[in-house]
Amino acid sequence: MNSIILVVGARPNFMKIAPLYDELKSREIPVILLHTGQHYDENMSKIFFDELGMPKPDIYLGVGSASHAKQTAKIMIDFEEVCLKQKPIMVVVAGDVNSTIACALVASKLSIPVSHVEAGLRSFDMNMPEEINRILTDRISDLLFTPSPDADENLLKEGISAESIKLVGNIMIDSLLNHSEKSEKRNIHERFEIKRGEYALVTMHRPSNVDDEGVLTEIIGALDVISENISIIFPAHPRTTKMISEFGLENRINRNPNFVMKEPLGYLDFVALMKHAKVVITDSGGLQEETTALGIPCITIRENTERPITVEQGTNTIVGNSKEKIIKEWKNILKTGGKKGRIPEMWDGKTAQRTAGEIIEYLNI
Ligand code: UD1
Repeated sequence: MNSIILVVGARPNFMKIAPLYDELKSREIPVILLHTGQHYDENMSKIFFDELGMPKPDIYLGVGSASHAKQTAKIMIDFEEVCLKQKPIMVVVAGDVNSTIACALVASKLSIPVSHVEAGLRSFDMNMPEEINRILTDRISDLLFTPSPDADENLLKEGISAESIKLVGNIMIDSLLNHSEKSEKRNIHERFEIKRGEYALVTMHRPSNVDDEGVLTEIIGALDVISENISIIFPAHPRTTKMISEFGLENRINRNPNFVMKEPLGYLDFVALMKHAKVVITDSGGLQEETTALGIPCITIRENTERPITVEQGTNTIVGNSKEKIIKEWKNILKTGGKKGRIPEMWDGKTAQRTAGEIIEYLNI
């Protein structure tokens, strides 16, 4: 039997594909793990393979960073060759990064069935490159694995047939639950000399927050104020580090002992930091979900979210990126302890099992 190709490209893909890789392997389904190389730094990529227990990719395209068009095009050219040679019985893509749409488009035009893990999420903000990737990938996918009922509704409204939509739950939570205990053994709190429950964990990398000097200055200003109450741990994405330096904002961080900027962290260290944070402040999509699963309050510095269930049921609050609003929500959390929330249905660590079951049924293998 030919293989199923599982595609990963950028950091948020790894924890979505790892549980499915394990599940398909355990059912003796032939799989090829393909890494496009969209993310390539040791701490943006390799460490996740090691910590999530994934083997070295079978195929590495090594495309690296470039403009959207160049990056997407390079992946497509290389991935088409792979597909022609390997003749996969299915291509599985995850999330909303450039690697997702690039590989889905190639497979679809070669009439290879495409599965999209984490389908149906919509921010309704076409200024986000990820929103374009989501809509287009869903439109050409044959099996759409959704994490929550809102995603099903979005897809149905767009005219996607109900038979191809499979509500399976949130696969990232499989990884989170699988690695939660192990993460404690890394002793990150001792290494960073911070106390559990007494720090704010911050990440941001969205172009809309970090590429504009005024906006980034406003956010750093808010964090500066928050650091008067609590230590800030800020593992910065390479794009963010670059922009902070370009706008000359490092001094504002460096002179403040309570505002600690770090290199991007591995999965286990990061999970342990999330589990014991007083609050997480972020523009990431995945963190909004992980904090909801962990019951940790999350302040999302965006105007919208493609993950509304984290606001309706979980611990997430969307505040935008103005200094005043970020500080206001922090003060609210300081006073009330923040939203407690509840864990959405099917965020139970069994999503990979359900997903693999659907794939096997679809392919009749
Ligand atoms: C990508 C995804 C975004 C996801 C994010 C997670 C798209 C459109 N965006 O954004 O949805 O939330 O990953 O991190 O696919 N760089 C490095 N080392 C790396 C990777 C990137 O230094 O290993 C730097 C490069 O300067 C690069 C920049 O980061 O130009 C941006 O990388 P890119 O892959 O284009 O997009 P992200 O901002 O990481």
